[in-house]
Formats: sequence, structure tokens, C-alpha cells
Amino acid sequence: MLRSVEFALRGAGASRSFAFSSAAPERKVAILGAAGGIGQPLALLMKLNPLVSRLSLHDIAGTSGVAADVSHINTPAQVAGFVGEDQLGEALKDADVVIIPAGVPRKPGMTRDDLFNINAGIVNSLCTAIAKHCPHALVNMISNPVNSTVPIAAEVFKKAGTYDEKKLFGVTTLDLVRAKTFYAGKTGLPVSDVNVPVVGGHAGITILPLFSQRTQDGGTEVVEAKAGKGSATLSMAHSKFCNMQLMSECTFMCSLTIFIVFIIKIVKLGRNGVEEVLELGSLSEYEKQGNLRGSTQFCICVQIHRLYGVCQS
Ligand code: NAI
Repeated sequence: MLRSVEFALRGAGASRSFAFSSAAPERKVAILGAAGGIGQPLALLMKLNPLVSRLSLHDIAGTSGVAADVSHINTPAQVAGFVGEDQLGEALKDADVVIIPAGVPRKPGMTRDDLFNINAGIVNSLCTAIAKHCPHALVNMISNPVNSTVPIAAEVFKKAGTYDEKKLFGVTTLDLVRAKTFYAGKTGLPVSDVNVPVVGGHAGITILPLFSQRTQDGGTEVVEAKAGKGSATLSMAHSKFCNMQLMSECTFMCSLTIFIVFIIKIVKLGRNGVEEVLELGSLSEYEKQGNLRGSTQFCICVQIHRLYGVCQS
């Protein structure tokens, strides 16, 4: 359906508006953990996205205020807030895209793996509800440790008979955003001209920027700079992965590849998830080593989560 979307631009004392047409389909988006540090700016960005028709904001508390606030933005998406387990099904009903930043973030001195015990249980129950209420949705996992929460989600969906590897993503675009920013800063290139592929995984040494090592400590740098008052919420929410998914673009994702190995793949995304897996391209010897290390860690993560039996309950 052809729609006209109006945006108001305000700047330097001037105000103007313009309209553009979009032939793209409307999408229903649900954010779980929407009242949190990532959830709130993500809700804002999704409300600004002209492709979104319905935006469901779910959390264990605090969503009514966030929903009321975001709903005042003059874009077409209809916003509603949902609280607690009782309203989870309603929040998820018929969603096309589910984004999960629910869980606890890192505090200074913690690694992403330290979050495993708490976030694994949260992801397990949220994914069980997704399998029931919107089994065909594209699911974007932000909750850390992504290296483990994605395999957990996969197991939950397999158990429910709804698993589709083309529709489950670990959102690691933040590493891509950082790699581009850091590389541009170091080389003096315009950041818009810089493209640094980041492969491997989303934790410590498994993060493998192919042209730079500097993003490997980016997350810890933010956690420490915020001194326990949050993780990389703003740059994470800005990572356009979820926006891109509503269109069709090339990006990176963590995906099931062969057997139980999860690793970031370079893919072309479309309305129904992964349309094409692209070649990684040639790697230097150093990058090959790093890629192998990342794959090994992923295998270990998958084995650990299986041993914990998180999905067997
Ligand atoms: P936060 O603590 O500010 O927000 C988390 C929200 O999840 C809270 O509002 C909390 O009430 C909610 N929540 C907890 N249990 C829930 C449940 N069962 N159902 C629904 N909502 C629930 O944390 P923040 O900073 O937003 O981080 C969220 C997650 O994202 C953390 O696990 C963090 O480590 C991860 N993260 C991932 C990144 C990535 O690149 N993938 C980057 C930065 C953080």
C-alpha cells in the first residue's frame, strides 16, 4: 500500500515539513525490555521508522510512561505498553519483528558471560512466548551474552517446532558501528566512507574486526566510563540493524551455520529474514587465526548452555 509519511524537521530556529511515499509493507514490532537503557532509545527509533505500523513495548515495569511518551511523536506507528508475564502474549501477538534487550547489563569488572545465569532464564521464557504468539517473527537478540542467548533461543524454538535459522539474529551491529567509528578516527577518513566488516562473535576476543582490533575493548570502555550506571545503550540502540531489517540491506548477523556452530555471517536481509549469505572475502593470516578462535569459543558457549540444560525445563 502506498503511504505518505510526514516528518517535521526543526533546526536553527526554522521549521519545515516534507512528505515522502513508501511502497514498503507495514510491520508490527515488539520490544521486550522496552523500559530499559537500550529499550527506550530503541522504542524511539522504531517509532521514527516509517515502516512500522504497530509498536508494542513490553517490560516487567515502567512501560506505560515510555509508551505514552513515545506515542506523542507524530509518526504513523500505533504504540502500546505492556507489563509483566500476563500481558506478554498480547504484546507479541502477530508481531513481524521482535527485539529483545530484556535482562541485566554488565557492571564494571563483569564480562558478558557473567550475565549468563540471569539472562539465559529470561531469554528462555520470552522465547517460549514468542514461539506461541508470533512463531514466524524475525527475532533480534540483544541480551548478553549474545554468543549464548542466541543458541538458547534456537533450542527453545526447536523444541516448539518453530525454529527457522533465517529468522533468528544475534544483534552484533554495535561492533560494526564501533569499528567504523574507531577506524575513521584513526585514519582521518570521513566516517561515512569507512566500512569495516566485523565477524566472529560478540564477546572479548571473539569480536573480530577485519581491519582493526580496537573495537574489542569498546564495550568495557563504556561500561567503566558509566561506572555501573548502564551499558552501551545509546550506541547500541543507534545500531541500525533492526531498522535495516525492515528493508533489505547487507549487514552482519550471528546465525546458525552448520550443525551447532553459531557465528557472524555477512548476509543480505529482507522481509522474511536472511535472503542470501555472502562470502567473507579474503582474510589475512592474523584474521584467519582470530576467526578460528571465535568459532571455537562459540562451540564452547553452545556446549556450556547445553550442559546447563537451560532449555530442558
Ligand atoms: P537495562 O537494565 O537498562 O534494561 C533491561 C530491561 O529489561 C529492564 O527495563 C528490565 O526491567 C527488563 N527486563 C528484565 N527482565 C525482563 C523480562 N523477563 N521481561 C521483560 N523485560 C525484562 O539494561 P540495558 O543496558 O538496556 O541492556 C539490556 C541487555 O542488552 C543486557 O543484557 C546488555 O548486556 C545487553 N547489551 C547488548 C549489546 C549488544 O550489542 N548486543 C550492547 C549493550 C548491551
